[in-house]
Amino acid sequence: MRKPAYFYHGSRAQVERLEPSKARSGEPRAVFASPERAYATAFGLPIVPDPKGRRSWSFHYRGGAPRVTIHCGSLDLTRHGYLYRVPSKDFVRLDDRQWLSYEPVVPRDCEFVRGADYAHWIETLPATRARLRIAPCISPSSRDIDFDSIERQATAAFQLPAHSIHGPSHWRRVEQNGLMLARRSSADTDVVRLFALIHDCKRQDDFADSRHGMRAAEFVATIRHLLPTLDQANFERLQLACALHSGGQRHPDPTIGTCWDADRLDLTRVGAVPDARLMSTDFGRHLAERQSRFAPKYRVRDATPNWIHSYGGL
Ligand SMILES: [Fe+2]
Repeated sequence: MRKPAYFYHGSRAQVERLEPSKARSGEPRAVFASPERAYATAFGLPIVPDPKGRRSWSFHYRGGAPRVTIHCGSLDLTRHGYLYRVPSKDFVRLDDRQWLSYEPVVPRDCEFVRGADYAHWIETLPATRARLRIAPCISPSSRDIDFDSIERQATAAFQLPAHSIHGPSHWRRVEQNGLMLARRSSADTDVVRLFALIHDCKRQDDFADSRHGMRAAEFVATIRHLLPTLDQANFERLQLACALHSGGQRHPDPTIGTCWDADRLDLTRVGAVPDARLMSTDFGRHLAERQSRFAPKYRVRDATPNWIHSYGGL
């Protein structure tokens, strides 16, 4: 492998000079860098520890696109890290991906790695319930809603296999997307989180199932007693968001629009990105455009009830 002129080094810290350090026990003190920009960028992501102080993640590619699986901790969308470009002169090869310098290295330049720009890289593990960290915008009433109980009810109502593309892992990503969007759209986060858990729970198949949104809205009515702090206006927003979410429409209400955009941003799970022109919120539109730019191989399309047919019945 020919040595490129520059390598990349990702870090949470901003420094003038990179000092040798130990990556893991047993490894030498060195500055680690990589010719692989995406791999190095992952080290600059603002992934913060979970409440027990644990922080672990792994990097991989899915269909050629970079992905980070968070095992413990969460991506903080409000923070950033750094990606340094370093001269390769003093580096020696450790393996295909990693090169080492035993001497301090002065970076050639540096750029921000903003958490909000990399949310689409993140895959979380259902078992650890790792989440994006966006606590500042959670509605005060969220403390009074037992989301775990509602998720259990939605899961019990879900008739499709757990690995369905419309199943619980999709709900969690919609929740993450929704909370991220809500930071800019001022949506009600209780409604957004409830929508994420409920909107697909009454699906009867992974195809069009044109009435699944209406059934989800009816399901919302059956759990009204579990939502005493949700006022009537937001309760009706939740029902409307569920009922019409698969119609490929936009909505001017920031909360309903956020719900729908959050759902559409997860089209990447089937190798598609939403059409930015059909997003309801400014930030959703921005993220859809960004998904198109970073994943040009994806097909851009809307989220009409028939969308799944084009994937041969995935
Ligand atoms: Fe969905």
